[in-house]
Amino acid sequence: MASHRWLIPHLRHIVVIHGLQGQLMLGLLLAQHLEEFYGAFACGLIEQLVVERQGVLLALHGQPKNFGEIHTRLVLHIHEIVAALDILDPLEFVAGDAFVQALFLEFLEQNGVPVITGVCEAQAKKLNEFFIKYVGTGRPFVIAKCAATLDGRIATRTGDSRWVTGEAARRFVHQLRHKVDAIMVGINTIRNDDPSLTTRLPGLQGSDPTRVILDTHLTISPDARVLQQASAAPTILVAGIHVAGNKKTAIEKAGARVLKVALKNDLIDMNLLMQQLGAMELTSLLIEGGSRVLASAFNHAVVDKVFFFYAPKILGGDDGVPICSGPSAEYMDECIGIRDIAVHRLGDDVLIEGYVEAG
Ligand SMILES: NC(=O)c1ccc[n+]([C@@H]2O[C@H](COP(=O)([O-])OP(=O)(O)OC[C@H]3O[C@@H](n4cnc5c(N)ncnc54)[C@H](OP(=O)(O)O)[C@@H]3O)[C@@H](O)[C@H]2O)c1
Repeated sequence: MASHRWLIPHLRHIVVIHGLQGQLMLGLLLAQHLEEFYGAFACGLIEQLVVERQGVLLALHGQPKNFGEIHTRLVLHIHEIVAALDILDPLEFVAGDAFVQALFLEFLEQNGVPVITGVCEAQAKKLNEFFIKYVGTGRPFVIAKCAATLDGRIATRTGDSRWVTGEAARRFVHQLRHKVDAIMVGINTIRNDDPSLTTRLPGLQGSDPTRVILDTHLTISPDARVLQQASAAPTILVAGIHVAGNKKTAIEKAGARVLKVALKNDLIDMNLLMQQLGAMELTSLLIEGGSRVLASAFNHAVVDKVFFFYAPKILGGDDGVPICSGPSAEYMDECIGIRDIAVHRLGDDVLIEGYVEAG
């Protein structure tokens, strides 16, 4: 059997690897493919199942009423389960699924099905980083992104930032927007750039993330593009709890939502905001700037991952907008560390990807 065992670590859900009598089957299991998948079990085509935690969740969660039937088929056909992540753990946090968990564990035990965990664990963790952060903390996985010149400026002194990077980098950002649940900027970015904050992928249908704008005093112009464009995704203005009801009503009439959050040092409290976004089931958040919002997100330790783009150009002074603004650490050993760095080339630009070191 081992010689026929294939493993495809980059598939998100369930990968079926090995069929009987040398027939090999590969399959990506999404919730909507469940029937097909269990059909393959029933035909005896599948001998081994490689699962990754989200796949298990979806499989069991997708058709709980049919669990008995699935159960029987599993008894007949599963020889071994190879899981990337600890199989006991993910079942704990499926809404109301203590029942499913108990059934599944009972099934494994009664049938002596060996469970091997930790296979391709690092890849699986990376693939599911949004999900793992969200279920573990109730907060979104946060990515901080910026596009800077080589001398570390994200806009000129006049606020001009169109465009720092080239087309390939900008396309990458639109792909990122398509993947995340929400995207966030500060009100100054809205004032300066008037962005639409939508996903634009030429020739492809991208989904727009929820737009989150930090605007403590609700000063956004009713003409701002984020309040104008037709998009299925909501726009949320995050304001201080003090803002007057009439301002809130005016924004809501313009089609956006207002989320009131307590302030910390006169700005929206980042940690409270993350909790509230998590409560709204936003599992991932891309912070696109500007300078004050990025600084605040780093200094309040809400960022998990960075995507910093550097364009091969130098602004040549110190009056442009820096990546982060405001007071910073006094000593180099107080810097926020970035680990697991990967460097990519997109056209002429360089992308540095990395994870924020905890604590
Ligand atoms: N190249 C890039 O990647 C990129 C991306 C985005 C923006 N930009 C550039 O960045 C510039 C704007 O940056 P900026 O620093 O002036 O403004 P910003 O970060 O866009 O917005 C900052 C404002 O957001 C509000 N805010 C509310 N809560 C906050 C919190 N917890 N932390 C930080 N801000 C909070 C505050 O205004 P209130 O007190 O009024 O609420 C604050 O002054 C523009 O020139 C834009 O072109 C560049």
